[in-house]
Amino acid sequence: MIAELSPETLERALTLLKAGELLGFPTETVYGLGADAANSKAVKKIFEAKGRPADHPVIVHIASKKNLASWANDIPDDAYKLANAFWPGPLTLILQRSSLVPNIVTGGQDTVGLRVPEHPVALTVLEAFGGGIAAPSANRFGRISPTTAQHVQEELGGSVQLILEGGSCEVGLESTIVDLSTGVARVLRPGGIRLQALTEVLGYEPELKSKTEIRTSGTLESHYAPQTPSLLVKHIPNDVEHVGVIARRPAPSQNAHWLELSQNAQTYARELYAALRKLDGLGLKQIYIEEVPDSADWLAVRDRLKRATFKETT
Ligand code: TXA
Ligand code: MG
Repeated sequence: MIAELSPETLERALTLLKAGELLGFPTETVYGLGADAANSKAVKKIFEAKGRPADHPVIVHIASKKNLASWANDIPDDAYKLANAFWPGPLTLILQRSSLVPNIVTGGQDTVGLRVPEHPVALTVLEAFGGGIAAPSANRFGRISPTTAQHVQEELGGSVQLILEGGSCEVGLESTIVDLSTGVARVLRPGGIRLQALTEVLGYEPELKSKTEIRTSGTLESHYAPQTPSLLVKHIPNDVEHVGVIARRPAPSQNAHWLELSQNAQTYARELYAALRKLDGLGLKQIYIEEVPDSADWLAVRDRLKRATFKETT
């Protein structure tokens, strides 16, 4: 059930979390499927609902950077610099975990992902709950992340009793993940915070790791993927009947399956997942996605388009 945040729904959300049940909630990036991060049994339900392999760690959402030290050990200065600059916001920090973090949250690794989300509904729940909320994106494993409450209902309605309404996500793509567990910053997943902004705060350019020895589902080659075969193309072919199109210009002729997204990278990011989901629901033969510019501001979008259109070549 989808519900607006009110004193009664907040009470209900807290009751569910404390009872070890799941909660769908909005963040500024995508919607999350949350559970009490300190409760292993509750977190296990996230994995079951998503069909997610047990060795993929989930992010712990916290109410404030003041809580950082409860969840992480050996926190380097760079972590505080980034937290001060970007929290609340679309940035996840990977740090050495504290003893508060159950194994199931980290997939057995000795590090934990932490983030303070910038959404009033998420922050209200986190503050009232007091603890951490473990939450991956509220989609089935490997599929497109949800950017509206309705998307969560469609994906996981059967396994989550309450989904908090929070409108369409402002950012629309997942958080930038920065690994600081080894002391020096490495970007594991580009996202809502740009590389340039990280560089300005850190005073050095973090290494960009697209593949890592650490298992992160957001770094699998095929991820965020529609079920309809999808192709990234330089030019949209002429014959596009019964084919879905995502482009940054209007359709040359009447075409109901042609979705025009913005020329602006941030706006495009906000619109992308809903567009993919819409076309994916139409049962088309194919989706063509027009390539996006090669510039830095399109990095996170390019990353997601690559994964959405990735095909095994074995
Ligand atoms: O914007 C976001 O980050 C959203 C919202 C809900 O906060 N969450 C999200 O969660 O995208 P998820 O689970 O779909 O992706 C989180 C990524 C995964 O690739 C996961 O493997 C990685 O973060 N991750 C979590 N903990 C990690 C750790 N200790 N080391 C390396 N990667 C980690
Ligand atoms: Mg995800």
